[in-house]
Amino acid sequence: MGVVSVPQDFNEEELFVDVRPILGRPLFLKCEGFNFAGSIKLKAATAMVRAAERDGVLTPRSVLVESSSGNLGVALSVIAATAAYRFLCVTDSRCNLSARRLMEALGSQVHVITKPKPGGDFLGARIDHVRALCASDDRYVWLDQYTNPENWRAHCRTTAPAIARQFPRLDVLFVGAGTTGTLMGCARYFRAWHRRVRVVAVDSVGSAIFGGAPGRRMIPGLGASVRPPLLDEFYVDEVVRADEADAIRACHRLASSGFLFGGSTGSVVSGAMDWLSRHDTRGLTAVAIAPDLGERYLDTVYQSNWLHDLYGPAVLGSDALTGVQ
Ligand SMILES: Cc1ncc(COP(=O)(O)O)c(C=O)c1O
Repeated sequence: MGVVSVPQDFNEEELFVDVRPILGRPLFLKCEGFNFAGSIKLKAATAMVRAAERDGVLTPRSVLVESSSGNLGVALSVIAATAAYRFLCVTDSRCNLSARRLMEALGSQVHVITKPKPGGDFLGARIDHVRALCASDDRYVWLDQYTNPENWRAHCRTTAPAIARQFPRLDVLFVGAGTTGTLMGCARYFRAWHRRVRVVAVDSVGSAIFGGAPGRRMIPGLGASVRPPLLDEFYVDEVVRADEADAIRACHRLASSGFLFGGSTGSVVSGAMDWLSRHDTRGLTAVAIAPDLGERYLDTVYQSNWLHDLYGPAVLGSDALTGVQ
């Protein structure tokens, strides 16, 4: 595809990075950051908006409203800039400043929630704010990425078939979990595929997606303080939890070879490395999904003051990822 007239018509779907030369274990990273929204969330955003337009829910007088940790907000901003309606993003103080600036540059409005609900529940506080907006004016339309089936269907139609085309002998797929749209779309697709694929969900330590108490998480995108309504564990073979300090180290290892990925890619890679270190990988084909690139994280994951304040001065000092220097 060489010519587009709307940004959402372009997405690089066929790009994979072989990380074995960098990390020493067999893993291909599916790169989802090459589109005009810079992340995998362009797919969910496009699918949800198309369905809402088709169903007559979105009209030119509508104002789209959505809770997002950043990337879905940027994707909806890209789409809204091509349409008659406006977009308001409800995010929280952990959202990257650059994501917020991107949304504003694209003409969207951003509300930042600074106070979580009891127990550190920022997501609940964001959703309360969205509900209050919708109750205040019937022009607000909330597509609700947490419950909207178009979120996972987008990946069933695009992400998973692209992986299957490139790796017809795929054995294991690692997918990070946020809303679980990517996870559920890919897991559903591969459950029906001709070959048994082990689908491993990667969640953050401190996330309550697969149970347990919520705790501190600073890398946006992955994890949630509540169980996502889209999650159906029947399709998930295994769950690994990635520690944020390990995720940061994975990001820096990849960056030192010129691959600047986002924070959640570090989590997925570190979870995958942990899994691969515990299994016989001879002849194994493994893929992990890299949701975005690193530019959005220059003030966080790639900034030493931020790292030292949150994870201590030794965070990059030791490399527990593969044991190989
Ligand atoms: C950077 C990043 N990684 C991972 C995810 C999780 O994807 P999903 O919501 O499909 O579970 C998101 C979602 O916003 C994200 O922005």
